[in-house]
Amino acid sequence: MRPYTIAVLPGDGIGPEVVAEAEQVLEVVGERFGIRFILQRFAVGAAGVAAAGDPLPDATRAGLTRADAVLLGAVGDPALDQAPWHLRPETGLLALRALLGVFANLRPVSVLPALVGRSPLKPDRLRGVDLLIVRELTGGLYYGEPRGRRESRAVNTLTYSVVEVERVARIAFAAARRRRNRVTSVDKANVLEVSQLSRDTVTRVRREYPDVHLDHLYVDTAAMRLVSEPTAFDVILTENMFGDILSDEAAVLAGSLGMLPSASLGGGPGLFEPIHGSAPDIAGRGVANPIGAIASVALLLRHGLGLPDAADAVDRGIEQAIETGARTRDIAEPGGPELGTRAMGERIAEAVRIAECGVRSGDSLGDSALRIPHSALE
Ligand code: NAD
Ligand code: IPM
Ligand code: MN
Repeated sequence: MRPYTIAVLPGDGIGPEVVAEAEQVLEVVGERFGIRFILQRFAVGAAGVAAAGDPLPDATRAGLTRADAVLLGAVGDPALDQAPWHLRPETGLLALRALLGVFANLRPVSVLPALVGRSPLKPDRLRGVDLLIVRELTGGLYYGEPRGRRESRAVNTLTYSVVEVERVARIAFAAARRRRNRVTSVDKANVLEVSQLSRDTVTRVRREYPDVHLDHLYVDTAAMRLVSEPTAFDVILTENMFGDILSDEAAVLAGSLGMLPSASLGGGPGLFEPIHGSAPDIAGRGVANPIGAIASVALLLRHGLGLPDAADAVDRGIEQAIETGARTRDIAEPGGPELGTRAMGERIAEAVRIAECGVRSGDSLGDSALRIPHSALE
């Protein structure tokens, strides 16, 4: 088997702490399955500014061209919150997503039975939650022009083309086919022309997927339903900013923001990152939850490299560590035992060494890689 080159971008704050555990798990996967991973580290975010005066340095851009997949920790540094735009860590992340062309951001959300009690929501609402947010990632308010700020006024632009909506909608419908055949498209079509265009476009694309049920919700109602009746959702399809907000809200279902992974796909190398940020409030203390980063490794193996058995082992390893009581501070019982980031990573890595795979295989998208439908790239 040829070696796989993974570009590893630890980033800032807790990014390097959780990525170290993700790397350890990759190493165990390599040993167990006889796969050679070549990990190449590059700076991004505030780390890029410190190393090269750029949140996405040229050396990082160049490194990406050799990568089969990209694993990222998090970016963000309060010391740069007032920095000019081109020096902000977040600008580097947005440039990275645009460079890779990863227009579809998949954020799966499920509730492990042992963690039902860790969410502030009522247990009867949480059992059986299994949803997937498909967030458009390279358009919308984040990228629209004109943008800028003057003394007494600032502007950002919300714009989407039909093609941008079509291609991400196809990902959502293709994903739903591997799940429970239901897509809820979330927008603000009662107020925004952009949402009206997207609602019409999604409705039209659905005709290519007649077996998939489609409904539409306004984003305010969706935000309410996500916590009052989360089991009602299968695939949620939405634009960039709404998806950002709804996915942090959905993390409350799983027990902690530190639990959720993501896969960003666009046809070339995928980008895999936990959904949380650099968490400056806990950075440097070794207490961050590495599960979002490690679960992102499972997504990388399955959907980035097409290695389902290895991905299964990582998913099962996480489940087994949780089932046997391993808890970082964010998901610990009040007064109960807590593991640091390192110890949690070790517990999962040990479990991955021996975890069952290929039997009860697959994540919530099935056991084979979710590939971008050809029609989405035309
Ligand atoms: P955040 O996600 O960093 O943290 C929010 C809260 O969740 C904090 O209390 C934090 O301690 C907690 N938390 C986050 N991840 C955790 C983990 N793995 N384990 C335990 N607790 C965890 O959001 P924020 O504080 O609003 O933003 C901080 C910085 O991160 C900002 O600069 C922001 O722009 C950036 N950010 C980056 C990304 C990314 O890189 N993808 C995502 C979100 C925010
Ligand atoms: C995320 C983050 C980023 C986003 C920020 C840091 C640019 O919140 O990955 O969810 O809004 O996409
Ligand atoms: Mn976010």
